[in-house]
Amino acid sequence: MRTITKDTITDVFMGYFGPDTDPRLREIMQSLAHHLHAFVRETGLTHAEWEKGIEFLEWAGRISGPERHEFVLLSDVLGVSSLVDMVNSRPEGTSSSVLGPFHISGAPAIAYGSDLKRHYDGPVLLAEGTVRRSDGTPIAGATINVWQTAPNGLYASQDPEQDTYSFHGIQTTGADGRYAFTTVKPVSYTVPTDGPVGEILNATGRHPWRPSHLHYIVKADGYRSLVTEVFPDDDPYLDEDTVFGVRDDLVMTYTEHPADTFPDGFELSGKVTEPYLRVDFDLVLTPE
Ligand SMILES: [Fe+2]
Repeated sequence: MRTITKDTITDVFMGYFGPDTDPRLREIMQSLAHHLHAFVRETGLTHAEWEKGIEFLEWAGRISGPERHEFVLLSDVLGVSSLVDMVNSRPEGTSSSVLGPFHISGAPAIAYGSDLKRHYDGPVLLAEGTVRRSDGTPIAGATINVWQTAPNGLYASQDPEQDTYSFHGIQTTGADGRYAFTTVKPVSYTVPTDGPVGEILNATGRHPWRPSHLHYIVKADGYRSLVTEVFPDDDPYLDEDTVFGVRDDLVMTYTEHPADTFPDGFELSGKVTEPYLRVDFDLVLTPE
């Protein structure tokens, strides 16, 4: 028999794979074991620390459910979600950015020019742009799933005061690839701190703030799906997003306009009485 030591266990692990193991699974598992084992050796991880880690994962599992995804949040604050985005990004398309833990499926269809702000207080934001290819060709029939928090910084799934799909909608582009809707200007918010992820942030002296943003998932036949966000260029947390989601091409100027310049053909046309904001954010898709 052979003796397993702390120096040989990784090689032994590598030898345990069956001959029919999927090659990509083998590559991922071997790399994971290589780095995990090295982490344990380098830190000299104690039994107490290992147990704490297991308890942490169990807590994250217990607190997770259909409307709370603590493991997604953990991946986000560790920078893993953003790293996966960056490793898979295509330079000719709009950068992708974190999905976040609050996306819910089943959002209602909203027509061009629809309003998501409704009775909520805050500045009107008109978000618009073109879904297009990098050469400018508009993409018709693209679906744009948008969501954001209410002015209290909470998503509908976190807030019993909101309707199920408040600040959620799905718009489909016409022949010109254009999309447009109004909403309330998003606010900076904190990720949830009442679970295991919050405990890690607290223990490591990190704040839980994200710069304000609108979330988008854009899909069109023949193109790679795009999960992204748009940020205003004046947000104080742009350079310290706790989930590392900000990219240069996702930072836009939200320009202010007098109320009497609000365009026709929108749900809010004729009803805007205060200066409103506009952000023009094209969504550039890349072929599949
Ligand atoms: Fe978000």
